[in-house]
Amino acid sequence: MSGAWAATPIAIVGGGQLGRLLAIAARTLGFGVRVLDPDPFCPARRVVDELVTARLDDVEAIENLARGAAVVTFEIEAAGIAALDAAALHAPVRPRPAALAIIQDRAAQKAWLAQHGHPVGPYRAVADTPALDLALAELGASFVKRCRGGYDGRGQTRVRGTDDFLAARALLTGGASAVVEQALDLEAEISVLVARSSRGEIAVYPPAQNHHEGGVLAWSRMPASLPASILAEACAIARAIAVDLDIEGLLTVELFVVRDGRLLVNELAPRPHNTFHPTEMACVTSQFEQGIRAILGLPLGSVELVRPAALGNLLGDRWTNGPPAFARALAIPGVRLHLYEKREARPGRKMGHLLASGATSEEALARVEAALKSLDAG
Ligand SMILES: Nc1ncnc2c1ncn2[C@@H]1O[C@H](COP(=O)(O)OP(=O)(O)OP(=O)(O)O)[C@@H](O)[C@H]1O
Ligand SMILES: [Mg+2]
Repeated sequence: MSGAWAATPIAIVGGGQLGRLLAIAARTLGFGVRVLDPDPFCPARRVVDELVTARLDDVEAIENLARGAAVVTFEIEAAGIAALDAAALHAPVRPRPAALAIIQDRAAQKAWLAQHGHPVGPYRAVADTPALDLALAELGASFVKRCRGGYDGRGQTRVRGTDDFLAARALLTGGASAVVEQALDLEAEISVLVARSSRGEIAVYPPAQNHHEGGVLAWSRMPASLPASILAEACAIARAIAVDLDIEGLLTVELFVVRDGRLLVNELAPRPHNTFHPTEMACVTSQFEQGIRAILGLPLGSVELVRPAALGNLLGDRWTNGPPAFARALAIPGVRLHLYEKREARPGRKMGHLLASGATSEEALARVEAALKSLDAG
């Protein structure tokens, strides 16, 4: 950063919940914020100075967003690479578009990880039906995932036997390519968040332990309850990936702890992450403030664990007649509520989250679960 403090705004491509929370953190540090999102009613709309309604790959709109900005970043992998390259003519784009280009294609990401010696499970990249069928025959029970555009389990299907082949083939329609991943017998899922500033300073958060239901994250707790040696290895892998990708900003590494003892990278996200919302309560510096510090080249904040915490996602399924009555949930000690101000609730859509702190991450999770249960009671 140069010049007077916060003299120029921060530009964010994507105004979903992660963009909104990044924007709030930027504001807390005194910065103005511009956001670009295709939806004029996106979650960031109420917390930004300027909202540009345009596609995430609109070259002209993103180039304009960058003019006069301190830095450009993105909250979503679908940000267009050509548009970010154009933005880079006017302001630094962090993380680098070239790193995003690798990450936004599952096949390219896995090939990059394997080439750089980072552990991934058995997989095949497939572009047509014969290759898909061959991969399924070779790998057995699998997850087939479209290379681009998937999130929250969308754009992927689980194949247990030949009955599921049709659903897998359907993922290739329209010329889409996919990866076929062998289904792993998971002991646990964890994620590691690395912050790497544009000056090269690195901070690694304590790993979070995660649980998915129906392909969507249900809960996450920090710290993870796994042997220290596994957690240290996970942190070392994540740190090495952030360095190899030359990340300036945040990198989240999702990992599988397999029952046979292997620790494998599931996928990467060069941005804040759902599983690290608990950092807001658990750590000295939240992931969002850290992300802003990192892209501005400011000193990174402490990632020290202050108190264990947990997250439970609030999906649109609970919005049967408008938002649930949250008062009972808020009566549970240690529980806090975040809503994203989405105008429309849909099944599976993330509408907000609950956080809770506790003496241990198990206790924090029990509080989140009690809070969710209190919502079910009507
Ligand atoms: N190869 C695998 N073996 C076992 N479980 C898997 C495998 N791939 C995916 N899963 C399960 O499905 C979940 C979602 O997979 P993945 O992370 O690829 O999807 P996503 O749509 O990118 O999800 P998100 O947006 O929540 O990160 C994983 O967290 C895990 O629970
Ligand atoms: Mg994932």
